[in-house]
Amino acid sequence: MNQTGLGLAIIGCGSATPQEVITNDHLTSLVDTSDEWISTRTGIRSRRVISETESLSQLAHQAAIAALDMAKITPADLDLIILATSTPDDLFGSANQIQASLGATHAVAFDLTAACSGFVFGLVTAAQFMRTGVYRRVLLIGADVLSRWVDWSDRGTCILFGDGAGAVVLEQRSPDQLLGFELRSNGSQRQDLTLGYQSQPQILSPEITVQQGGYTKIFMNGKEVYKFAVQQVPEIIEKALFRANITVDQVDWLLLHQANQRILDAVSDRLKIPSSKVLSNLRHYGNTSAASIPLALDEAVRSGKVKPGDVIATAGFGAGLTWGAAIFKWG
Ligand code: COA
Repeated sequence: MNQTGLGLAIIGCGSATPQEVITNDHLTSLVDTSDEWISTRTGIRSRRVISETESLSQLAHQAAIAALDMAKITPADLDLIILATSTPDDLFGSANQIQASLGATHAVAFDLTAACSGFVFGLVTAAQFMRTGVYRRVLLIGADVLSRWVDWSDRGTCILFGDGAGAVVLEQRSPDQLLGFELRSNGSQRQDLTLGYQSQPQILSPEITVQQGGYTKIFMNGKEVYKFAVQQVPEIIEKALFRANITVDQVDWLLLHQANQRILDAVSDRLKIPSSKVLSNLRHYGNTSAASIPLALDEAVRSGKVKPGDVIATAGFGAGLTWGAAIFKWG
């Protein structure tokens, strides 16, 4: 797959979550629901949300510092920073704010939007720069604060989402530790999960009318998104495994976007991967969108579960609709 001989390895990870916790019981005072319903349908028990004084950039900065520390790399060593997010502090992008706060003076920085697939899409994007020899050291952050956009009166969605950030440091290496990947989009199903722009006409003069507006709240057709995930995710992992030329038995860990425990169970069942190999921490954080994969990875690495050389099959999926899988060796 990689013709240049240049490759990459993930050599550090880090994560950050806000202090404020919303439990399922807290949600019962907002909407008609119960801890029992939420935990049996989703596996989620609590989620973290940013307070009035916190921001996406702060969380992303903290996760980045932890990842750089593990990688033993200074911000000045970085060539590129990619921030995968759908909830930037600034619509023009928040990656540059993180570049400045880290003091990564040599790095170019940009945001990448692919919703809950953002981390996997970001990993593959970073790999292209590294395999062509353009950049040697990349900081990839997945961070989202969907609490800003959740409709807290909609029991179908407010139970699912939480805020968080996760980061990895990638370094050019040979042989390549990114063994295979596959990405997909289907814009014709985009209406099943949206956070749309809504405008009002603003009359500037008798001849000129422009539109001004803001974003609505998250809308989701839960049943369709569920069907999409359990159908498409096993397939794309199989395709990425084929590209990596490895079998499902050689996978040490299945690291899925942490959307819903039932989705994790259905995908692992279909792939015949035992639950002991499935990384899951969504009971504490809910669905943190682009942050969920690096957040779960960081916890698994720091707890000693994931060890250097372990083969990880990861997959992101969500709004767009977008989905993608990557097979890599840790460390
Ligand atoms: N508490 C109690 N009841 C609820 C509820 C809640 N939080 N949310 C929905 N319900 C009710 C519905 O109103 C419905 O009641 P009705 O039968 O009287 O109409 C019933 O529970 C079943 O609703 P349904 O939407 O069929 O539930 P579900 O089993 O599909 O579960 C989700 C809903 C959202 C948990 C599930 O569809 C899901 O996880 N989808 C994927 C979402 C996802 O992962 N999105 C992000 C992808 S990145």
